[in-house]
Amino acid sequence: MRRTVIAGNWKMNKTNQEAVEMLHQLKKEVAGISEVDIVIGAPFTCLSDAVKETVGSNIKIAAENVYPKSSGAYTGEISPKMLKAIGVEYVILGHSERREYFQESDEFINEKVKAVLAEGMTAILCIGEKLEDREAGKTNMVNETQLRGGLAGITKEEAANIIVAYEPVWAIGTGKTATPELAQETHAKIRKVLVSLFDKVGEEMTIQYGGSMKPENAAELLAQKDIDGGLIGGASLEAKSFAEIVKAGR
Ligand code: PGA
Repeated sequence: MRRTVIAGNWKMNKTNQEAVEMLHQLKKEVAGISEVDIVIGAPFTCLSDAVKETVGSNIKIAAENVYPKSSGAYTGEISPKMLKAIGVEYVILGHSERREYFQESDEFINEKVKAVLAEGMTAILCIGEKLEDREAGKTNMVNETQLRGGLAGITKEEAANIIVAYEPVWAIGTGKTATPELAQETHAKIRKVLVSLFDKVGEEMTIQYGGSMKPENAAELLAQKDIDGGLIGGASLEAKSFAEIVKAGR
């Protein structure tokens, strides 16, 4: 059975105190919901207190990045082991902002996916085409390249702990959402690649949609056959709007 996973991606927003306050409110908003896996991706500085605030609740905490080594001389970096040790369960990887502003390649993202899985955490692998790719008819090619690159050398057993987030770059933070039909069409193509890589496991993998998902459009998007969740930026910053999206996923 595919799990519906609704994940927030706060990006570089919220102080530690703001994070704890939001999660305190969110816990009340989503109390008792068990049909949906609820995840919040927070900056490194909030992670420890975010885990403490949500322990025993139905909210899990994600990091938004990681360095693919367990320790060593990598000034300023954070390892999967460090995240695991404080109770982080998911890591968002390969977000388009990291690909664009920090030149992350598919190879580097693949190392991160493996490092996260090796610590027993779940990887949320983000892929997605830019506007110019879509206009040039390269959407499926770009997504397939990012998928195969990010998932290189991954076994079926490991794939069960990977979520794919399809985020068309032109829809992120722009208010422009892909129509449910257009998103479904791309998700179906992604599903095909996953099945070709992992057989039955590929059928079971959660594929999230991301890109201006909000309370007003979540239900329609989540009703699509191959849209199994959402990765939400802007609308995850407030407990009420994020909880509405979670409820739309029930
Ligand atoms: P958005 O961001 O919901 O603000 O478009 C989504 C994301 O970048 O994960």
